[in-house]
Amino acid sequence: MQHDKVLILDFGSQYTQLIARRVRELNIYSEIHPFNKIPTNIQEYKAVILSGSPYSVRGEEALHPDLSQIRGVKPLLGVCYGAQYLAHFSDGEVAPSNTREYGRANLSFIKDDENFFAHIKEGSQVWMSHSDTIKKLPSNSVLMASTHDVKNAAYRIEGEQTYAIQFHPEVYHSTDGKRVLENFLVGIAGLNQDWTPDSFVEETVEAIQEKVGNDKVVLGLSGGVDSTVAAVLLNKAIGKNLYCIFVNNGLLRKNEFESVLNQYEGMGLNVKGVDASQRFLDALAGIEDPEKKRKAIGNAFIEVFDDEAHKLEDVKWLAQGTIYPDVIESVSATGGPSATIKSHHNVGGLPDFMKLKIVEPLRAIFKDEVRRVGATLGIDPELLGRHPFPGPGLGIRILGDITAEKVRILQDVDAIFINGLKKWGLYDKVWQAGAMLLPVNSVGVMGDERTYEKCVALRAVESTDGMTADWVNLPYEFLQKTSNDIINKVKGVNRVVYDISSKPPATIEWE
Ligand code: XMP
Repeated sequence: MQHDKVLILDFGSQYTQLIARRVRELNIYSEIHPFNKIPTNIQEYKAVILSGSPYSVRGEEALHPDLSQIRGVKPLLGVCYGAQYLAHFSDGEVAPSNTREYGRANLSFIKDDENFFAHIKEGSQVWMSHSDTIKKLPSNSVLMASTHDVKNAAYRIEGEQTYAIQFHPEVYHSTDGKRVLENFLVGIAGLNQDWTPDSFVEETVEAIQEKVGNDKVVLGLSGGVDSTVAAVLLNKAIGKNLYCIFVNNGLLRKNEFESVLNQYEGMGLNVKGVDASQRFLDALAGIEDPEKKRKAIGNAFIEVFDDEAHKLEDVKWLAQGTIYPDVIESVSATGGPSATIKSHHNVGGLPDFMKLKIVEPLRAIFKDEVRRVGATLGIDPELLGRHPFPGPGLGIRILGDITAEKVRILQDVDAIFINGLKKWGLYDKVWQAGAMLLPVNSVGVMGDERTYEKCVALRAVESTDGMTADWVNLPYEFLQKTSNDIINKVKGVNRVVYDISSKPPATIEWE
């Protein structure tokens, strides 16, 4: 089945992915492409949205693609920079704004003759974030809405299906933003809303069957949401031809290996658990540098996985849980490649010697969509709601070198913290939580004795994608109880601190 597709041209805005997600929440499929790489199959897209941008249309380096195949040909919506683009590169005028135009504003409708604002009330709150403003609209424009500070807040161009809005409909603070997108895409452009988790499952299962046929596929399970949903989809498509390998790197949460393995078996997956804890510990011995630890863990994983994969005969494909944010080609705000802050992601992590073809059933969807697809597939909500957990696991939460004893201590601390969050009904309010074992000993007293033991830091953050995050204001009573439990129950720890740093400038993990 062919679904209607929306093309989002990215001019480097921090919100571009949100536009794609909002559109998809309307059950309409959307794709993000860099502004200067208009897809060659442009005829297959039913509507186009131009994103915002950190650039100014007035600057020398203004991003200025050729839209001749789009403008006047397809329904087109310019957002923020996109709206300024449509004015500036026609005969309108864009100038620096005199007043600050950040944050909340309220819409007043001027002329909504095309029902762009259908079902939206006068005064509806929108979110502004721009330093230039449209002084003069291009010719043939009809002003549709203003706000207190922004006269030309929304306009359309007569004789074309071209619309432009200065505000950001994609952000949560634009109360009717999704409605605006729906009015444009469904009411005006006439797109169908038939891209649903059910249709995704059905079509992906068919596509996998067609792609891999009767071949065998191997997949590394991590216990996380992405690899689990990928496995269940593949299992639905090819059953026992899917060989899952779940490696215990010894850096998982307490009892995680056994319990997750049980769960996988209960789900009917053809899975082999491989306990390689000692191999990882050996590979990590004496390494203190975080990036070197990541490399050692990554390499050990590849070796273990490869050994296991070689035991299977005739495997042709490697399945990966890659999701859409891993493959979106990003437009850098600085023009250059973005700096590597941590050597995170395992995109393209296929070692040459494995020489397998790749199948990535989740390549087109965002994390929230992976969860919805998982729910459609009947996966346990508790598994789908799990916090993200880094590939190197506790290895990057033990600061400094890693030993079996330190892993034991941190697993115990982490288990008390995470189980406590669950017990207090706080787990689902937190995006990610964990404990860090610090490389310092501090003095304490227990009974009559002086102790000189480890300090642990607890971290709980709220976030949407891990790119930015803030610490969670956990109740003092909870922190008090957790700290007591940890110090009383975990031998070797005499001090607990709570991390109150936001990202940026801190990061979520301590290494
Ligand atoms: P930071 O610490 O960069 O983390 O703020 C952002 C998100 O990425 C996770 N993270 C990793 N995930 N391998 C992974 O698979 C890694 O090496 C890694 N380092 C950080 C982190 O847990 C958070 O969700």
